[in-house]
Amino acid sequence: MQIRVVAQASSVAEGVAREVVRQLNKKPDTVLGLPTGATPEPLYQKLVEIYRRGQVSFAQVTTFNLDEYLGLGPDHPASYRAYMERHLFGHVDIDPSRIHIPDGLAPDPDRECQEYEEALRRAGYPDLQILGLGRNGHIGFNEPGTPFGSLTHRVRLTESTREANRRFFPPGEEPPTEAITMGVRSIMQARRILVLATGEAKAEAVAKAILGPVTEEVPASVLQLHPNVTWWLDEAAAHLLEPDLRWVDRSL
Ligand code: F6R
Repeated sequence: MQIRVVAQASSVAEGVAREVVRQLNKKPDTVLGLPTGATPEPLYQKLVEIYRRGQVSFAQVTTFNLDEYLGLGPDHPASYRAYMERHLFGHVDIDPSRIHIPDGLAPDPDRECQEYEEALRRAGYPDLQILGLGRNGHIGFNEPGTPFGSLTHRVRLTESTREANRRFFPPGEEPPTEAITMGVRSIMQARRILVLATGEAKAEAVAKAILGPVTEEVPASVLQLHPNVTWWLDEAAAHLLEPDLRWVDRSL
C-alpha cells in the first residue's frame, strides 16, 4: 500500500488526474472503475481540462461506475448517471456504448446485479479503479458488515449514508433507501486501486481503514489485502495517521 499526502483537495485531484491520464495514454482501451460523490468532482474537472487541452482521449475507454440508487432514472439530477454526464461523460469523447452504470430503474434489480457483474467479468474487471471513502468506511455502497465475498448486489442504505447524501437531493426530497453496488469482491478484482479522501470528516475512516484490523465492519480495511493500492489524501484526511505516514508532498 502506498500513501500520498498532499496539502489540499485540489492537489489530490491534480495527482490522481495525472495518474489516470498516464494510464489512458499507456493503454487507450483501459477499463476504468469510477466513483461519484463530492470527493471526485475536482478530479473530473481536471480530467475535462486535460481533455480540452488535447492531452488525453477517452474514445476507447470502458467505464464501470460503482453504484446507482434504486428508483432513480437518468433524468433525475441526483442519479449517478446524471452526475457522470454532468461532471465527465458530457464533456469528453467517451463512446456511450462503453459506459456502464447499474440501471436504477431495472424492473428486476437482482437480475440487473447479476448482469452487471457479468459485464464486469467479460470486460476483465477494471485496470484502474478509483474509489471514494464513506465516513463509516464504506466503499461503493458496501456498508459496514457487508461480506468481503460480495459481488454486485442490492443494498439497503444506512441512515448515516442517506443523511450524508441528502445534500445532493432537491430540498424536501428523501434520498432512496436502496441502491445497487459493486461488491467488495468485485472491487478487489481491479488491477490497481486509487482511494481518494479529503477533509477532516474522513480522517477517522482513513485511520481505521489503513491502520486498523481488516474487518467487514470497516469495508475499506479490505484494501490492506490488495497488492496495488494508493491512498491519495489531503492533510485534513490524513491527520490521524502516524506522523511518518503523513509526510506531505508539496510538489503538487
Ligand atoms: C459513490 C460511492 C461512495 C462515495 C462515498 C464518499 O459512487 O461509491 O462510496 O465514494 O460515499 O462520498 P463523498 O465523496 O461525497 O464524501
